[in-house]
Parts: sequence; C-alpha cells; structure tokens
Amino acid sequence: MHGTRPCPYSPSASSSVAKLAVLASGNGSNFEAVAEAVNRSRHDISCLLSDNPEAFALSRARRFGIPALVVPYANRSREEAEEEILRVLDNYRVDFIALAGFMRLLTPRLLDAYPESIVNIHPSLLPKYPGTRAIQDSYASGDRELGITIHYVDYGLDTGPVILQKSFCRDGRESLEEMEARIHALEHRYYPETLIRIMDAREEKGDGL
Ligand code: GRF
Repeated sequence: MHGTRPCPYSPSASSSVAKLAVLASGNGSNFEAVAEAVNRSRHDISCLLSDNPEAFALSRARRFGIPALVVPYANRSREEAEEEILRVLDNYRVDFIALAGFMRLLTPRLLDAYPESIVNIHPSLLPKYPGTRAIQDSYASGDRELGITIHYVDYGLDTGPVILQKSFCRDGRESLEEMEARIHALEHRYYPETLIRIMDAREEKGDGL
C-alpha cells in the first residue's frame, strides 16, 4: 500500500454518515487501506490515534491530511491514557473505532463507551493463534488453511464475536514473507469493505448515528 497516491481528505458534513477513528501502533498498512476506501465512501475518517510516536501509520495519516495524534502510554496508567483517547474521540464525535495493529488492550471503560462499535483485524483464523505472534504461530503450525479474522472487540484478547473470516490454502512451500504478504492482501481487501458495510448497516438501522 505504501507509495500509492492518497485520496484527498474531504469530510463533508452533509453527505457523511459515520465517523470512524483508527487506532494503530505500527506500520499502518491497514489504516491506509481503510482510509482510501472510507474516503471514497460517504463516511469519514476523523482521526488516527497511536500510542507509538514512531508509528509509520502517523506519517501515512499526515499524507492523507487526516488528523494524527499520539496518545502516550508511558509513565501513566492505561486508564489515564484511555481517558485521553476518550476525550479525543468525543471531540471528533466518533461513532466507530477500528483497531489496525493497535498493540494495547482496551479496558472496559473504553469498550463500554462504544458498545458493538469497536472492530479489530487479526491475522489468523481465530480462535487459533490469538495475540501478537499470530502470523509466526500460523506459519509454524501444520495448518493448511490460514487466514484472517475481523471481529468485534470484547474484554478478552482476540475473543470478540467474529464478523468475517477469510482463508487461503498454502502448499507448504511458501516462505514466512510470502505467507505474510498473502495475509496482508486479504486484510487490505476485506477490512475496509467490512468496516464500510458495518457503518452502512448501522446507519440504515438508525442505530446511534
Ligand atoms: C496486521 O497484520 C493486523 O492483522 C494485526 O496487526 C497487523 C498490522 O499491520 N492486528 P499494519 O500496521 O496495518 O501494516
């Protein structure tokens, strides 16, 4: 995704429906895929939040003209950091939150403030291989079928209700890098369209937007 030309950021109060915030800690390739798709939809990306001042996701957001904010977690409690996140989300009137490689667990305080409105992308077929080493664990497994999971976030680690899973079969000869590329290709294709579908559906039901 890196190197593609960003769509101009053009939130419009009249045609936009849902406001999405993305939380990312690192590279941000999923953030970029989501930003490109949401910018072409009737919804808006309000901001990118990161716990990591070095996250490349922040540069991607700035290239798109999307507000990019760092919320430090160092030297304070997770609850204090989350209070700051909540203030930002409130300021931007955010309706939905997409986690895209956000390496922090959310507390019930934040989760309860956005019921059924926080979605995560995970690079394995959950419940297999939760946690931060999902790609390596999948690769090291003997599993022939590998894939991704898009799910709502609940109090557990990668345990929330599954929205969508997509898989592929490997032949066993792929390198870790090749397998990782196939996983990311699935993520970049399905995460943006799933988020937009959820925001569309929520708006059609008139739920909370
Ligand atoms: C992705 O593999 C995602 O599934 C996982 O973290 C990775 C983030 O990659 N949660 P990127 O920062 O979006 O490139």
